[in-house]
Amino acid sequence: MSRDAQKKLAAEKALEFVEEGSVVGVGTGSTVAFFIDGLARMKGRIEGAVSSSEQSTRQLQQHGIPVFDLNAVGPLKLYVDGADECDPWNRLIKGGGAALTREKIIAAASDKFVCIIDAAKQVELLGQFPLPVEVVPMARSLVARRIVEMDGQPVWREGVVTDNGNWILDVHHWRIQDPVSLEAKLNQITGVVACGLFAARPADVVIIGDTIRAIRG
Ligand code: 5RP
Repeated sequence: MSRDAQKKLAAEKALEFVEEGSVVGVGTGSTVAFFIDGLARMKGRIEGAVSSSEQSTRQLQQHGIPVFDLNAVGPLKLYVDGADECDPWNRLIKGGGAALTREKIIAAASDKFVCIIDAAKQVELLGQFPLPVEVVPMARSLVARRIVEMDGQPVWREGVVTDNGNWILDVHHWRIQDPVSLEAKLNQITGVVACGLFAARPADVVIIGDTIRAIRG
């Protein structure tokens, strides 16, 4: 089965977690685009969505789904998003679409994080996919030097400006043995806004194609 077909199946399965009358947290990317198309079919039965990017906001609004500010709705029951890599403990690398900071905020504000992926995203050890780190622009070189000291190889994603007005460093060649501790260390570098490791708050449910793998929650 093609990767797109698997993404679509996962997105359809995730619709089963959406509760009537709720506000749904919505991620970013090609897998989530399938989820938003599915959500449109039930738009009369949900109150609306909180979106993690301008891209997803546009798609939601094109479908006539109301988009709310997270501050206006408080905690969410459900967040649905894709990932770039997923390990056996539901810890993720995200941010290939540069939306990692808002994604992390919505994940933190949600009771249940359902991650939708195709099988190729499953890994034993995180780090083959370059780890995105969002940085305040003036701190780009400073953060890059700190990452080199940590044996990472940061590459500036030149030309990309995040929805928050920041820049992205993609860190290559890290085999991430302890994602929780690396996430904490990266968060402590001055100038880092967020890193793409979702380890302290992993997904609660991972859907791979049409198969649900639940470990937490
Ligand atoms: C965006 C993300 C996406 O979830 C991730 O890049 C996966 O994207 P896709 O569903 O297109 O494979 O983290 O910042």
